[in-house]
Amino acid sequence: MLGVLPHLRSNPIRTFLDAADRYGDLVHMKVGPYHGLLLCDPAHIRHVLQDNARNYHKSPLFDRLREVVGNGLLTSEDSFWLRQRRLAQPAFHRQRLIAMADAMVGCTGEMLERWDRIAARGETIDLVEEMMALTQTIIVRTMFSTDLGAAAEVVHRTWPIINRRIGETFWATKLERTLPMPANRRFWRALRELEAVVYQIIGERRRAGRDEPDLLSMFLSARDEETGAGMDDRQLRDEVVTMLLAGHETTSLALSWTYYLLSQHPDVERSIAGEVERVIGDRRPSFTDIERLTITRRALDESLRLYPPAWGFSRQALGDDEIGGYRLRKGWLVFTIPYVVHRRPKLWPDPERFDPGRFTPEQESVRPKFAYIPFGGGPRGCIGNQFALTEATLIIATIAQRYRIELVPDQQIRPEPLITLRPAPGIRAVLKRRESPTGRALQ
Ligand code: HEM
Repeated sequence: MLGVLPHLRSNPIRTFLDAADRYGDLVHMKVGPYHGLLLCDPAHIRHVLQDNARNYHKSPLFDRLREVVGNGLLTSEDSFWLRQRRLAQPAFHRQRLIAMADAMVGCTGEMLERWDRIAARGETIDLVEEMMALTQTIIVRTMFSTDLGAAAEVVHRTWPIINRRIGETFWATKLERTLPMPANRRFWRALRELEAVVYQIIGERRRAGRDEPDLLSMFLSARDEETGAGMDDRQLRDEVVTMLLAGHETTSLALSWTYYLLSQHPDVERSIAGEVERVIGDRRPSFTDIERLTITRRALDESLRLYPPAWGFSRQALGDDEIGGYRLRKGWLVFTIPYVVHRRPKLWPDPERFDPGRFTPEQESVRPKFAYIPFGGGPRGCIGNQFALTEATLIIATIAQRYRIELVPDQQIRPEPLITLRPAPGIRAVLKRRESPTGRALQ
């Protein structure tokens, strides 16, 4: 009766991986009351995410996320979503990215000053926490032109509680999610605290009446074409929570996984440091450096292949459809799981091997586009992908100018699939100051 639901609850990634290994690129699954198809063929994924995207909504599994982000850009649908997407789009244009790149480097510089004190004391860092705090500062400064001050601690503390609870109850029954058990109460309390911070961001801007060239101003000044009304506080809250969460967690995990992989591939780590020295030297990194940081970018792309922070997402069919010759009925779910697609041996030979060489232009040109989906694709693809890649590349470069990150030995780190894919239980690392400004160890 429950189909694969018990397996998904205990180990979703293994369940999807085994299904694809055993049955191939298109697998029918019974998940509790739903029928679902797991898609691994890029042509089928393209069909659902792009060519016939109108026939699909986000699946009911996104309802868990709706409890937190409400009806924001990630979860809204149809004409309402399209209007919000068009409103937000200018905040991600290239000209804005160039301006934001400098803030990204600035925030990283502030972190490095703190790291200097940590390194001087010979202490280790929790890399995941550090990357989370950094990308959080960046998203707030670039999109909302503010610093959270003391409230930063609240976001930092509450989001992991919220993320964990949603991840753990993803496949749970309504009863399990609504009973006033300690775990649920902790979740509700964390959500209220996070919400208070968001209302603080909105309230401060309203009171100050400033007009910044940022996302918050775009949302605040938006007017409905017919009624002339602005966005109400609830909608603003939903959009700000969405950007705050979608805009920092994923990128920070991409960085953590990249450092995890580099620690196992010191040759690639050295090449990156050498590239940073050649391209940037000791000066402040900038947006225009990025296109020349090809080794760095390819390592990041490969890290997003092996450990896609958004490891899986799903849709629900609004009407009957046909995929690869199979009938799909209205109401059925479709699972697109980057973690699994990125490991299909047909698309990615020797899939577990870390090989940034997969991302040379020659290799990329022969691979189907939807074989690589860390940012999804089609109209609902990630609005922040260029922002994230710019941010992650600049952070890696800025850190590489001063430190090599070495993992504390003998840690058992495993991917934990909550809403996002986290390195559990965390990553402890040592900061190794480079000998010369960008490292004599480079050769
Ligand atoms: C490495 C970093 C990131 C990854 C892996 C990632 C991944 C994704 C994926 C897979 C989706 C599509 C989900 C689906 O189709 O159901 C998505 C959507 C979205 N992402 Fe990202 N993301 C990243 C960074 C960012 C950043 C930096 C921002 C904002 C500044 C952002 C904001 C959003 C929003 C608002 C959506 C919903 C877009 C829409 O439906 O119109 N993401 N992201």
